[in-house]
Amino acid sequence: MKVLIFDDAERAVISAADHIVTALSAKPELVLGLATGGTMLPLYQRLVAQYQAGRVSFAKAATFNLDEYIGIGPDHACSYHTYMRDVLFNHIDIDQSRTFLPRGDCADPVVEAARYEALITESGGIDLQLLGIGQNGHIGFNEPTSSLSSLTRIKTLTADTRQANARYFENAEDTPKYALTMGVGSILASRHTLLLATGTAKAKAVAAMVEGPVSAVCPASALQLHPKATIILDKDAAARLELTEYYHHVHPQGAESAWN
Ligand code: PGA
Repeated sequence: MKVLIFDDAERAVISAADHIVTALSAKPELVLGLATGGTMLPLYQRLVAQYQAGRVSFAKAATFNLDEYIGIGPDHACSYHTYMRDVLFNHIDIDQSRTFLPRGDCADPVVEAARYEALITESGGIDLQLLGIGQNGHIGFNEPTSSLSSLTRIKTLTADTRQANARYFENAEDTPKYALTMGVGSILASRHTLLLATGTAKAKAVAAMVEGPVSAVCPASALQLHPKATIILDKDAAARLELTEYYHHVHPQGAESAWN
């Protein structure tokens, strides 16, 4: 794992955006895996600004989002389809026919999960998968005890996750109970994973992910098995790591090491 620690969230976000811009410059037809949530908002703002400044184009790229709530359609105000259009897709030059998310309003979520996983495979697989992390160590909606080889499927959300996401819904009890999510195995199949975490609320989960045992109790710890996992943190999210001195030694101020 490449652990990059920055003094503040703004610098961490800039680094994450730079990774995406560099990947798109190297391969304009990049297959980009995307995430939602509060952490990603400043990152998408930065990508939009980079696009507006003429520094990046998404015209040839395709995107696959990690997850979507079951039971709400793409036009629902709280769907991840809406989130992605509002914060990114409507502001860049991406061909929206190549932006994919699972359909939460499908007739049969089991069939939809298999269709989505097959679509990722048919696209040639994900080149760069962006990830956030939940306070319980989830990636996507892979809650604790998710199989580490799972593919896209239905997951029941934990009470904690529903509570964390209730702020987006008018009535907390409307927060969906189920989601379709890429599995931990789907995420591990991507060629590069890029996880961004900021703030002290994530410090415990980050420590378990990076320095804890590989365990389904912390699904993000499966990234220890990924050959190319980049973890971008601000110092608050890194606060409970023990080998911080080493991470700073290898990547001073988040810089690439001499051997990369
Ligand atoms: P957050 O969500 O960025 O809103 O904290 C991250 C996640 O749950 O994966």
